[in-house]
Order: sequence, then C-alpha cells, then structure tokens
Amino acid sequence: MPLPSGLATERTRLRFWQPDDAGSMLHALDAGRDSFLPWLPWVRTDNRTPVECIFSIERFRRKREQIDPPCDDFVLGIFDRSTDEALGGTGLHRIDVASHQAEIGYWIRPDRRGQGLCTEAVAGLISWAFTPQTDGGWGLRRIEIFCAGSNLASQAVPKKLGLRQEVHQIGRRWVNGWDDTLGWGVLADEWDVLRRRIKPA
Ligand SMILES: CC(C)(COP(=O)(O)OP(=O)(O)OC[C@H]1O[C@@H](n2cnc3c(N)ncnc32)[C@H](O)[C@@H]1OP(=O)(O)O)[C@@H](O)C(=O)NCCC(=O)NCCS
Repeated sequence: MPLPSGLATERTRLRFWQPDDAGSMLHALDAGRDSFLPWLPWVRTDNRTPVECIFSIERFRRKREQIDPPCDDFVLGIFDRSTDEALGGTGLHRIDVASHQAEIGYWIRPDRRGQGLCTEAVAGLISWAFTPQTDGGWGLRRIEIFCAGSNLASQAVPKKLGLRQEVHQIGRRWVNGWDDTLGWGVLADEWDVLRRRIKPA
C-alpha cells in the first residue's frame, strides 16, 4: 500500500516533513530549546541550522522508504492548518508489524503550548492510525504512549484523551535522576475513529 499522506484536524495538519519545512522546523525549535529539556535531549544537540534540519528531514524520508527490514518509525510534523507553520512534531514510532501496534510521541513549540494543540493532534493521529490502510490510514490495532513520571504536561495528553494507564515502572529511565516510566494504551475497538475520542465505557 502507498504510505498515508496526511491528516487534518480542526487547527492542525499532520504530514511528513518536507525539505521546504527546514526553516519552519528550526524556528519552532529555536522558539525555546531549553523548554524541551530534560525530556527531549536531542533538541540540545540536533537540528541547530537549516542544513541540519534538511539532513534530519532527508533521514526521515530515507527511513520511511526502507522496505527490508520495514521502517518502524514514521516521523510527522504538526503544522498550523491555516499558515502551514510548524507547530511541533509527532509520529508513529517502534511500529511492531507482527502485532500492528505503535507508540506515539510528541512535542509542541513553547509559544503554542497550553492551547490544546497536542491533544487535538494526537487524537487525530490515533484515529488516523486506526483507520484501515484501504481508507488512507495506517491499519493499526493498538497505540501506546509513554512518558516520564515527572513530565506532567506530557501525561496530561493521554489522560485528557481518556486512554487506559497500563504501565508504571519505577526508576525505569534517567531524567536528571532516575525517574519512573508511565504508559497508556488504547485498542482500535475502544476508539471512536470518526469522533476522534475514546468510546464511552
Ligand atoms: C507535552 C507537550 C507536547 C504538551 O503540548 P500542549 O500543546 O501544551 O498540550 P495541550 O495543550 O494539548 O495539553 C497540555 C495539558 O497539560 C497541562 N499542563 C501543562 N503543563 C503542566 C504541568 N506542569 N503540570 C500539570 N499539567 C500541565 C495543561 O494544563 C494542559 O491541560 P488542560 O488543557 O487540561 O489545561 C508540550 O508541553 C511539550 O512539547 N513539552 C516538551 C516536550 C515533551 O515533553 N514531549 C513529550 C515527551 S514524552
């Protein structure tokens, strides 16, 4: 099947990064690199110039076109639906082809946080992930989200979406000290793809 091309939500558009987005990606990260720490340490070292952003975007493209072994990491940008400005990033990561599941990660530029954009984009991405490949989706069966126990803003996203918390691993990761890992999961038949929200219990 051809790869799904993109998805619009009320205020955002999710799509693969293109080389032309390099300036917009840089701008989004430069809006406040320290604000991504300690959660996303790569922001300190990576994508610091337009050329480095183009390099990353090209790396994402080459990876997603990899067939053997199949790509298990599809990186997406979150763009402002009206201006096409980069708002942040997300993606379907650690895809397990055998069990049709993936992990979702996310970041939003600091000057656009607290507006519900991440929750909106992730709700859209979950619906897109659960849409059959024949209908332009990813045909997945299960989605997971993991974050550090001390990352309260990140935890708020799966909680607001009503996902099921399934994991609490003590001292599982290093974030300025040993921190817990929390994890949430949702199955395709628990999610209302059209309304982009969890089905009532
Ligand atoms: C996590 C992140 C993507 C959230 O983006 P966002 O667009 O601000 O998210 P939303 O507006 O959809 O929701 C965030 C929620 O977190 C809440 N929140 C924010 N900071 C918080 C904090 N310190 N403590 C508790 N809740 C917090 C907000 O109040 C909001 O909930 P509300 O709508 O009920 O008020 C953003 O903060 C970010 O990019 N952080 C840095 C990168 C990161 O940590 N990524 C996740 C790695 S696992």
